[in-house]
Amino acid sequence: MAGSSVVSKENKMVIAIGSDHAGFDLKKMIIGQLQAAGYTVSDHGTNSKAAVDYPEFAHAVGKAVASGDAEKGIVICGTGIGMSIAANKVPGIRAALCPTTEHAKLSRAHNDANVLALGARLTSPDDIRAIIEVWLYTTFEGHRHQRRIDKIEI
Ligand code: RB5
Repeated sequence: MAGSSVVSKENKMVIAIGSDHAGFDLKKMIIGQLQAAGYTVSDHGTNSKAAVDYPEFAHAVGKAVASGDAEKGIVICGTGIGMSIAANKVPGIRAALCPTTEHAKLSRAHNDANVLALGARLTSPDDIRAIIEVWLYTTFEGHRHQRRIDKIEI
């Protein structure tokens, strides 16, 4: 179930990740960052810089999170916009495009975002590293925010 605690056999949180060609290099960097921090990563592609269509990868990551195979997801395309739009079509997914650490913090604290969308062509690698760290460590505040989240799905 999305939102429950998902751990791998090694007892580490599972993060699903996916990108299109524009986010491929950044995806490799992020996988390294996550593994160094002790997360288990399930990589849903793409696997090269050949041009692909971002919805396929956004849906794969969204489904991994919604099904409970992963606790959180990260999707990367050129702007982060296409990936966030597509991931949000998967029921139960709250994907947030976060260009700053403040967006990352509030997307977790207020919106309980379960997928982080990033723009590889618009956000620097250093900023992305910081955004991911904040996003993964910030907890949902609940209370009035839970009531609002309960009204999102139509
Ligand atoms: C691919 O050129 C680009 O359109 C894609 O990565 C993304 O930015 C779409 O939202």
